[in-house]
Amino acid sequence: MGPLRIEPLDSAHDRSGFLSGSSALDRYLRLQASQDIRRRITTCLVALDTETEEIAGFYTLAGTSVPLDALSEDVARKLPRYPLVPAALLGRLAIAQSYQGRGLGATLLVDALKRAARAELGVFALIVDAKDDPAQRFYEHFGFPLLPGETRRLVLPIATALRLLEGEGKR
Ligand SMILES: CC(C)(COP(=O)(O)OP(=O)(O)OC[C@H]1O[C@@H](n2cnc3c(N)ncnc32)[C@H](O)[C@@H]1OP(=O)(O)O)[C@@H](O)C(=O)NCCC(=O)NCCS
Repeated sequence: MGPLRIEPLDSAHDRSGFLSGSSALDRYLRLQASQDIRRRITTCLVALDTETEEIAGFYTLAGTSVPLDALSEDVARKLPRYPLVPAALLGRLAIAQSYQGRGLGATLLVDALKRAARAELGVFALIVDAKDDPAQRFYEHFGFPLLPGETRRLVLPIATALRLLEGEGKR
């Protein structure tokens, strides 16, 4: 694997050969992502192998909100009593099979957190949607708790996430 660079998806990127093991995520990158970006539904960031210009991984990031009363009590009690709390949604994350298991998933997760943390908008938490059990375990590995009452939606306050990742030397 060569050095990587992370940048917004654009038409110069060849997405035809991207294979993550999830055909839904591969199809999304190939067929849907550009349209969603044009319509301002999401952003999509890709990690490129600078030696081959292959897409090694991608994720999407969009604005969302969480009802205050959906957060756990210890998180919610420190917040103002507005009904909704602003958040960023990491809706999709996929690493190409030939790049899996080398820390790239973690790198993209940290990249998403940092982008959400420096956004010129209030963003209290990063929300992630896990598509299945292994994906959920991946996020739990980084300390994301499930949103109470949800099965595959996890939430981590940005400040907590940055502290956790800093502690692990992963920033
Ligand atoms: C899940 C996925 C994003 C992980 O990416 P990756 O680059 O292979 O993972 P990394 O190498 O960055 O792993 C980082 C850490 O997470 C752990 N990890 C990886 N996958 C895990 C899983 N399914 N369950 C628990 N821990 C996991 C690794 O052991 C590693 O731990 P360490 O930092 O203590 O060594 C990737 O396998 C993938 O794209 N899978 C197909 C699509 C998918 O499931 N997307 C999930 C979002 S919906």
